[in-house]
Amino acid sequence: MAGLLLETLRGTNGETRPVWFMRQAGRYLPEYRALRAEKGGFLALVYDAEAAAEITLQPIRRFGFDGAILFSDILIVPYAMGQDLQFLVGEGPHLSPRLVDTALSSLAAVPSRLDPIYETVARVKAGIGSDRTLLGFAGSPWTVATYMVAGEGSRDQHDTRALAYRDPAAMQAIIDAIVAVTVDYLAGQIAAGAEAVQLFDSWAGSLAPAEFERWVIAPNAAIVSQLRARCPGVPIIGFPKGSGEKLPAYARETKVDVLGLDETVDPTWAHRNLPEGLPVQGNLDPLLLLAGGEELERQTRRILDAFADRPHVFNLGHGIGQTTPIDNVSTALATVRGWRRP
Ligand code: CP3
Repeated sequence: MAGLLLETLRGTNGETRPVWFMRQAGRYLPEYRALRAEKGGFLALVYDAEAAAEITLQPIRRFGFDGAILFSDILIVPYAMGQDLQFLVGEGPHLSPRLVDTALSSLAAVPSRLDPIYETVARVKAGIGSDRTLLGFAGSPWTVATYMVAGEGSRDQHDTRALAYRDPAAMQAIIDAIVAVTVDYLAGQIAAGAEAVQLFDSWAGSLAPAEFERWVIAPNAAIVSQLRARCPGVPIIGFPKGSGEKLPAYARETKVDVLGLDETVDPTWAHRNLPEGLPVQGNLDPLLLLAGGEELERQTRRILDAFADRPHVFNLGHGIGQTTPIDNVSTALATVRGWRRP
């Protein structure tokens, strides 16, 4: 029998809730920081399949999360599409040349840059145990495009939103290229052992409604339908961060199997307004994990109670912060594990 997480992603509303945390493998863990110092940087870790598999499993060993998310990054896709990728300490990622001043057609793709990631997936799968679920992932096209165009992270995705208005055909070509690579990449992760996948759309919230339809809903719908045709029965989690009142349309039109919610969404509103029976994932504010105390417990329970009548995977509203006290993670997990569906 599949584990509790996979059952829930498939639509079962069990008596207890599975739990994993976005960015659960990372800098708040001393065992991660030790390995990172030894291997000399983030990208070196991602491309060392043995180390990446070890890091993927670290939070499972420490906390017993129900799911392990592949240790990698959404920017591996632009790297495979031919951009150069660097993670500079304290500065975040850099991609070059940036598409704000270079044509997509001038990039020379290097698809073999995806292969070591599949090896990581296979290694994790061999070590994870059948009651835990291995999650693969990719960035959604809009979010990946914002980094490809600007060459780095940006506060309001200015360059990419401007390009989309100025030259929608060029923007469409970038999005279509990302869709094609992403479908292959996720199918490759599934072939290597991933049992479910998540699409991270961190910057979906920066778009006006018509642009949201074109650059968020349409490309995610394309990925879902193509991936489902190639890999039937593998749950797809969509996480369009910051989408608020557009979430019901996103869920209906992309046909994702599971909807990830950020912490700005009221769980009671979400339960009332989302399609009946649609599994949801989320949505504790990661800052509550920093703060701890009674409020952490109270809000954890409030989310669990609000989603009692639909399948629910407990998670954060976005990634765990690097200064999170480890004891607060344990406290939140104890609350989730002690909860029973009324
Ligand atoms: O969730 C996990 O534990 C799995 C691994 C994972 C990472 N990044 C590892 C990582 C996942 C799923 C991501 C997704 C990702 N990467 C997103 C979407 C989700 C989100 O957070 O909004 C985005 C936008 C990126 C791009 C990216 N990668 C940025 C902007 C940065 C620098 C900022 C930061 O948080 O450090 C990264 C680096 C990165 N990706 C680290 C990790 C563990 C930190 C590397 C380090 O310094 O050790």
